[in-house]
Amino acid sequence: MRVAMIGTGYVGLVSGVCFADFGHSVICVDKDPKKIDVLNNGGVPIYEPGLADLVAKNVSAGRLSFTTEIEDAVKNADAVFIAVGTPSRRGDGHADLSYVYAAAEEIAGVMDGYTVIVTKSTVPVGTGDEVQARIRKVRPDGKFDVVSNPEFLREGAAIEDFKRPDRVVVGTDSERAQEIMRSLYRPLFINETPIVFTNRRTSELIKYAGNAFLATKITFINEMADLCEKVGANVQEVSKGIGLDGRIGGKFLHAGPGYGGSCFPKDTLAVVKTAQDAGAPLQIVEAVIAANEERKNKMADKVISACGGTVKGKTIAVLGLAFKPNTDDMRDSPSLPVINKLLAGGAAIRAYDPEAMSEAKSLLPNITYCDNSYDCIEGADALVIITEWDQFRALDMDRVKDLLAAPVLIDLRNIYHPQRMKGRGFTYISVGRP
Ligand SMILES: NC(=O)c1ccc[n+]([C@@H]2O[C@H](COP(=O)([O-])OP(=O)(O)OC[C@H]3O[C@@H](n4cnc5c(N)ncnc54)[C@H](O)[C@@H]3O)[C@@H](O)[C@H]2O)c1
Repeated sequence: MRVAMIGTGYVGLVSGVCFADFGHSVICVDKDPKKIDVLNNGGVPIYEPGLADLVAKNVSAGRLSFTTEIEDAVKNADAVFIAVGTPSRRGDGHADLSYVYAAAEEIAGVMDGYTVIVTKSTVPVGTGDEVQARIRKVRPDGKFDVVSNPEFLREGAAIEDFKRPDRVVVGTDSERAQEIMRSLYRPLFINETPIVFTNRRTSELIKYAGNAFLATKITFINEMADLCEKVGANVQEVSKGIGLDGRIGGKFLHAGPGYGGSCFPKDTLAVVKTAQDAGAPLQIVEAVIAANEERKNKMADKVISACGGTVKGKTIAVLGLAFKPNTDDMRDSPSLPVINKLLAGGAAIRAYDPEAMSEAKSLLPNITYCDNSYDCIEGADALVIITEWDQFRALDMDRVKDLLAAPVLIDLRNIYHPQRMKGRGFTYISVGRP
């Protein structure tokens, strides 16, 4: 099959290269000429494990190419995916669909013959109807179907998630479009991946319902962690104790500094707005959003209190800036509000992240960026671990203690053992554990 992927970001690039790896012929399009230049010169503009090798393999096999020219990609395509951003609209929290609609209208202007247009971007219920209407307006005689096919990959494990997903969701009533979607995902059929065929609106809502549920799970365990701190219980053991119940499941039950990233914050807000407009408010999700906002504030307070009630004039070392390990994505990372509150309290921040520092520099211009963990820690009055990169899990703690001006460790990801750290002479603060 011939595939055009419009938008070559975290989702578009990974989806495009994985479809090419399935054997399809894929052209990825992006408006950003810098991204396309990097890709055409053999580089990869984002950090995602395994992606560079997979891009190189499929480019050299002649199945994958990159362009800024939408016409080259769309004209002969059987399926055109829209994988552009849908950030929160400034001011009201609704999803900003301007990139999706612009892409749809551009596709409409150049498509040729029957084309399946697939929204892979996360879009509110009813967006497919509007995409269809806009395309129809540009091409009253056009032969096309608009399909919803939300993406569930996680940054940091994106290739594995795309190639071995828990399920694929396809929203369309058109049998012709279903047939094309089946062909595209044929290798997954062979693996017996469940494919949920549904109508377009249901498919659009599945994506938001999934993200809202996961954000709720995280927020639930974060509040349990607060309760654990008050009553002398251990949240990790609570997670294990409830997660072993098959009805609950152990995933997304790690207490921490609050969810962030490019999806949960904007998607929870957008689904709350959709629900309010529809007259069926999602009170649980509204509470989740409020609790998660407050969480980041509380994490900064945790650091301040571990530093004796003030961070004025103190130097704080921060390990981890990305919203989670194995990505360079800084969108809505909890590190941003935590660091900003510490800066506002008069602290100087030294930080290190294995991949996210170049992204972080424009968002956090007033901190010192270090070359490695130990350089970051040297001379600091406290160490805060915000992202659980593997390399932070096995630090030489004797060296860390020697390098710190004061042995204060605030572990917002619970990666060290409280008793062991206390035994080594650290003032050790974690999340929800005695
Ligand atoms: N990042 C994730 O982990 C993830 C996971 C699942 C779903 N999603 C959803 O997928 C969508 C894309 O997310 P992302 O993180 O890949 O975004 P991104 O910002 O990394 O990439 C979007 C890309 O689209 C390009 N673009 C915008 N308009 C264009 C146009 N008209 N023509 C060509 N290119 C255009 C931009 O230049 C950018 O490179 C969002 O709706 C998001 O919610 C993201």
